[in-house]
Amino acid sequence: MRLLTYLVATTADGFIATPDGAFDVFLQQGDHLAHLAETYPETLPAPFREAHGISAPDRHFDTVLMGRKTWAVGGAFGLTSPYPHLRQYVMSRSLTSAPASDVELVRGDPVEAVRRLKAETGLGIWLCGGGELASVLGEEIDELILKVNPVVVGAGIPLFRGGARPRALRLVSHQVFESGVCILRYRVQRAE
Ligand SMILES: NC(=O)c1ccc[n+]([C@@H]2O[C@H](COP(=O)([O-])OP(=O)(O)OC[C@H]3O[C@@H](n4cnc5c(N)ncnc54)[C@H](OP(=O)(O)O)[C@@H]3O)[C@@H](O)[C@H]2O)c1
Repeated sequence: MRLLTYLVATTADGFIATPDGAFDVFLQQGDHLAHLAETYPETLPAPFREAHGISAPDRHFDTVLMGRKTWAVGGAFGLTSPYPHLRQYVMSRSLTSAPASDVELVRGDPVEAVRRLKAETGLGIWLCGGGELASVLGEEIDELILKVNPVVVGAGIPLFRGGARPRALRLVSHQVFESGVCILRYRVQRAE
């Protein structure tokens, strides 16, 4: 069974964007970026990969899930297919057609869609965000990879917008960078 991994940048106080949806509080420079490019190259959007000559094969994920508002961040300036090297899914009830030829629209229950994807073979499934979709998919999340940035913002879009059932996590790995970013990888502890 493939895993669903919520890999996301967060402030130290648990927000993935400021109240207006901006994410420029996250460091765009620093030694953590080389690590991300090396370890999770598939999580970098196509323009960034092109600008930095990144063409590494997918390491952890071959599929990405985006809430419509996360997709719209790039969509607003014409980036309708941000991760063409992955199978891309956008969850939305308001969109009536797929926003790009290589992006699939999921209008039905995201949980059912994820369960179908998990049953397929391949690399892992990356939940890109945002907080609302993470809440909807909460029970399906197997791993969290938090890119904790050294900043607090006090308010904004939380990691789980709409709440999450309390679940214990096991810290699997951690990296601390000169930039102050910490990458924490957690596995969700299941009762089985
Ligand atoms: N820090 C990071 O690494 C990171 C990563 C990703 C995103 N972000 C930020 O997160 C923000 C967006 O997060 P968000 O929480 O506002 O929104 P989101 O989770 O990206 O998208 C919410 C939308 O997903 C769709 N959706 C939610 N539940 C659904 C369901 N049960 N069935 C079908 N569709 C469903 C709906 O689209 P419709 O309204 O079309 O129905 C809903 O409006 C952006 O500001 C972005 O910058 C940050």
